[in-house]
Amino acid sequence: MFDLIIKNADIATASERYTCDIGIQDGRITTLAQGLEGARETVDASGYLVLPGGVDAHCHLDQPMPEGVRMADDFLSGTRSAACGGTTTVIPFAAQEKGQSLRAAVDDYHQRAHGKAAIDYAFHLIVADATPHVLEHELPELVREGYTSFKIYMTYDDLKLSDLEILKALDVARREGALVMIHAESADCITWLTEKLSAAGQTDPRYHAVSRPSAVEREATHRAITLSELVDVPILIVHVSGREAIAQIHWAQGQGLKIYAETCPQYLFLTQDHLDEPHFHGAKFVCSPPPRDKDNQQAVWNGLEKNIFSIFSSDHAPFNFEDPCGKKLAGQEPDFQYIPNGIPGLETRLPLLFSGGVNEGRINVHQFVALTATNPAKLYGLYPRKGSIVIGGDADLVLWKTDQRVTIRNEALHHAVDYTPYEGTIVQGWPMMTFSRGKLVSKDFRFVGEAGAGQFMSCQNPTLDGRLR
Ligand code: URP
Ligand code: ZN
Ligand code: ZN
Repeated sequence: MFDLIIKNADIATASERYTCDIGIQDGRITTLAQGLEGARETVDASGYLVLPGGVDAHCHLDQPMPEGVRMADDFLSGTRSAACGGTTTVIPFAAQEKGQSLRAAVDDYHQRAHGKAAIDYAFHLIVADATPHVLEHELPELVREGYTSFKIYMTYDDLKLSDLEILKALDVARREGALVMIHAESADCITWLTEKLSAAGQTDPRYHAVSRPSAVEREATHRAITLSELVDVPILIVHVSGREAIAQIHWAQGQGLKIYAETCPQYLFLTQDHLDEPHFHGAKFVCSPPPRDKDNQQAVWNGLEKNIFSIFSSDHAPFNFEDPCGKKLAGQEPDFQYIPNGIPGLETRLPLLFSGGVNEGRINVHQFVALTATNPAKLYGLYPRKGSIVIGGDADLVLWKTDQRVTIRNEALHHAVDYTPYEGTIVQGWPMMTFSRGKLVSKDFRFVGEAGAGQFMSCQNPTLDGRLR
């Protein structure tokens, strides 16, 4: 007897498309066959496309922030929103503060997630203080315990590492088989440009993009590639925004270097013109790297089509607009350099890419699944339990109505942020039912899951053997 049978499922994975019934027991897929009978519950998937649940491998939830700044989403509102957008696994960051032990950051982050997450979750680490103790003891131990990826910053004063520290951290990753995610923007160039802009009174949100031009991202991307080459370890460049960084990554991949890359919706659907919106509304689009122009959007689409990118994540970094702990810091309209960086996007990630990518013919459905579910699960050591539709895998399944037209409105989203950067955008294709380990967690734009039902996932060492597709 199955707990659930999903009948007549038109299934697409990263490599295959076929129709069958899906038999589910104890949260796992146990049978893929036609004509299944005998279940406590049956769902007819006729008229839907059935895809693996999304894996959002770059999002920030309830991350401790500097004094006076607070993220709008905790693990409940964030995972609720993710579920309603077709995502069934999130990987946010247990972020070390300077002076803090990495272990303490992980323990604290478990407490923040416990009893709240409505879908499954794993943690990346953020290494912000690469002391000898962290590098020799804490980091290797945590990797062995299932925290197999960590992020390193080349910018932000409170997070950045020097090149020497990055080399040492990469060396740990090589020895332990971890994957390092790199935020590639050059700190000193940004500081110099910011000081000049500030001295000239150019402090509006639009100058955020001027302070972080493509060259700054290109230089850091090339430097990160060089450091990875010296240590002989794969890296993944996160939130790549446009042509110049892509050219560096493409070049490195052509040299046979194991350089993976991620991009995000903001680099396909927003431009720096949004930062110009009047009455400080441009602050809603302040994220790093900043959105660029239409030509760069096209370069990102081309990179997705050509499989230069392996993963597509939201980089959901949720700050309210009307909030003294958010974009209007301390109740002011602060200079661009003090506006908390980041935009929300957990719920809109998959519909935006499905609509603009699959329905508009830029990528096929298999690329969509690879970018949004299978590849992140592989790169972060969750595959095959997550990221595909296979016997023995978790029954994380999404039933898509591929012709469902939706006008994105913040009031209909399930995060706790008071705006969406995609307000008024029309998409075609929406995840109408999301199952997390065989349990329905969202249906017809409503959250029907449960706080605390999500489980923590310990990650395996990823298999990093070159291009994924
Ligand atoms: O602006 C962004 N991307 N904020 C989130 C933190 C990060 O660097 O990913
Ligand atoms: Zn970043
Ligand atoms: Zn981020």
